[in-house]
Amino acid sequence: MTATDSPVRSRILGLGHHLPERVVTNADLTRCMDTSDEWIQQRTGIRQRHFISADAGPADLAAPAAREALRAAGVAAADLDLILLGTLSPDVDFPASASLLQRHLGVRGMPAMDVRNQCSGFVYMLAVADQFIRTGAARTVLVAGAETHSTGLDLSTAGREVAVIFGDGAGAVVLGAESDPRRGILSTHLHSEGRFAEKLMVEGAASRSRPRLTEDMLPFPGSRLWPRMEGRYVFKHAVVRFPEVIREALEANGYGPADLDLLIPHQANLRISQLVQSELELPDEKVFNNIDRYGNTTAASIPIALHEAVTAGRVREGSLVCLASFGAGFTWASALIRW
Ligand code: ACO
Repeated sequence: MTATDSPVRSRILGLGHHLPERVVTNADLTRCMDTSDEWIQQRTGIRQRHFISADAGPADLAAPAAREALRAAGVAAADLDLILLGTLSPDVDFPASASLLQRHLGVRGMPAMDVRNQCSGFVYMLAVADQFIRTGAARTVLVAGAETHSTGLDLSTAGREVAVIFGDGAGAVVLGAESDPRRGILSTHLHSEGRFAEKLMVEGAASRSRPRLTEDMLPFPGSRLWPRMEGRYVFKHAVVRFPEVIREALEANGYGPADLDLLIPHQANLRISQLVQSELELPDEKVFNNIDRYGNTTAASIPIALHEAVTAGRVREGSLVCLASFGAGFTWASALIRW
């Protein structure tokens, strides 16, 4: 699915992000599982991640990120027309974490909904927000990605392949209408291939089993409550889909990789980002990575990285920026933005 032609565009007016204070280094993980700093850095590029230390859910992490984005955009929460929140680690099964975020912001009335597309969640949400704005159904939209992975990982040796990758965090943007057709989100490109669902999945608790929670799901090593992943299989698809969907976005707008000012790939694994970079022949200064500090924060990874890139001056007015993602589903997506 692609969206390109409309007189009104949407533009990111403000950004924010929030990470819980507690830093968990690779050395810290060696105390609960058989792993090493060397293995984790070599295979993933991750040095540390942040974990929540007290009870908190994604809405709690998204609230400060959202407030920062609203402040930067000069938009009052009450003036939002739509609140979107992406997470695979929702605060509760239902209602939506977006509803809890709305409550944190002290506002009511406007629609709030979760988008459940894992690592592609943020780009999927941008596409939804963009459509609302292009059609005139909304003028300002809050898009937040937030995860508290740490409450759902098997931190024993049995879960090490998955557990070392993920971190907690939140990022948010406020989108508004832009009348200059040369600026803002130029296009979004979304894809999914559900036949690979089992390759990266958390099975329970869910409606597929009856009752939803059974004794064999209790959180022991190998439990169906923990995420499971065929890492190499996922890796091989990621390094094909990332370049494909980035090229799709560039070509839809008459550009090639050399025109890009900055690529912000979803932070899944530094090795994946490096292979994508070399496939597209991009120099180091045109690819943004921060996975070394945060691990994979799934729906939060792109807005955190985008905010850091903007703050560091790596995105300036007029920059051509591509956001791209790949993750469970499988899903993959891109957005091309003229800043
Ligand atoms: N520490 C030490 N050893 C480990 C660890 C660990 N944390 N994890 C696995 N190993 C061992 C394995 O047991 C295996 O040992 P063996 O050779 O004796 O069998 C060995 O290391 C190699 O394991 P592989 O799984 O082949 O390692 P690989 O190089 O594939 O790296 C990884 C694993 C990092 C998970 C990689 O496959 C990957 O990044 N995959 C893609 C992840 C991804 O992009 N996910 C999508 C986004 S996530 C989302 O959408 C929610």
